Amino acid sequence: MTAKEIRQSFLDFFESKGHKIVPSAPMVIKDDPTLMFTNAGMNQFKNIILGNDPIKYPRVADSQKCLRVSGKHNDLEEVGHDTYHHTMFEMLGNWSFGDYFKAEAIAWAWEYLTEVLKLDKDRFYVTVFEGYAAEGLSRDDEAAEIWEKLVPKNRILNGNKKDNFWEMGDTGPCGPCSEIHIDLRNDDERAKIDGATLVNKDNPLVIEIWNNVFMQYNRKADGTLEPLPNKVIDTGMGFERLCMAVQGKKSNYDTDVFTPIIKEIEKITGYEYIIKN
Ligand code: ALA
Repeated sequence: MTAKEIRQSFLDFFESKGHKIVPSAPMVIKDDPTLMFTNAGMNQFKNIILGNDPIKYPRVADSQKCLRVSGKHNDLEEVGHDTYHHTMFEMLGNWSFGDYFKAEAIAWAWEYLTEVLKLDKDRFYVTVFEGYAAEGLSRDDEAAEIWEKLVPKNRILNGNKKDNFWEMGDTGPCGPCSEIHIDLRNDDERAKIDGATLVNKDNPLVIEIWNNVFMQYNRKADGTLEPLPNKVIDTGMGFERLCMAVQGKKSNYDTDVFTPIIKEIEKITGYEYIIKN
């Protein structure tokens, strides 16, 4: 599948599950003093999530252009040094505002990856929030139980507050999350080292591709958590990483998201692009 086909298949899948497909919001944020650039698909829905705006469509999906170059989610130091972070990237996402919750979100993520895209089930690991006693937050047993129906138990890993409690910024919507990681190493390497030990360890071929956030709180300016009026599903999948997985590449830059641009640069500059894998 081409990148274009992959993007469309995501939107088609969630449309078939009753989601309204909406356009990407602008990357420069004009009406939120807490954020300069769009850092996640949920930004444009912040006021719906907080209960300040009415819910127009309870189920929404899109592909959002994001910039993570400052603030809480800042990838700038990784760009140009690794194969899977970008200044600007696309985030595929689906949302439920007070409609479906963990069971559907997890089942549909799994269905899309393994049945629509037919990615190898044995290459996936998932994480669930281990809890954080200091804030009275318990382990996300509910998400773990849902995953247990889909993947072997040894592929479900606990994750800490840093990795598995997603927050938009210092303030704003937040909640426990469940990440889906994929192991793109070759079979020899996979046989030698268990992929489970490489999750969240900066291995460029064992990477997070999709985050499912179960939004339940608003982080207030004084640091406390208040419950949201509705439970919200907020997911984000790295489009370029997904293309790498589907197209069997070892770097996002080797997918057709980038190769036509790189070819054009070669033509204009007269220099050859050399892949150092
Ligand atoms: N908002 C979540 C993220 O950006 C899905 O990871």
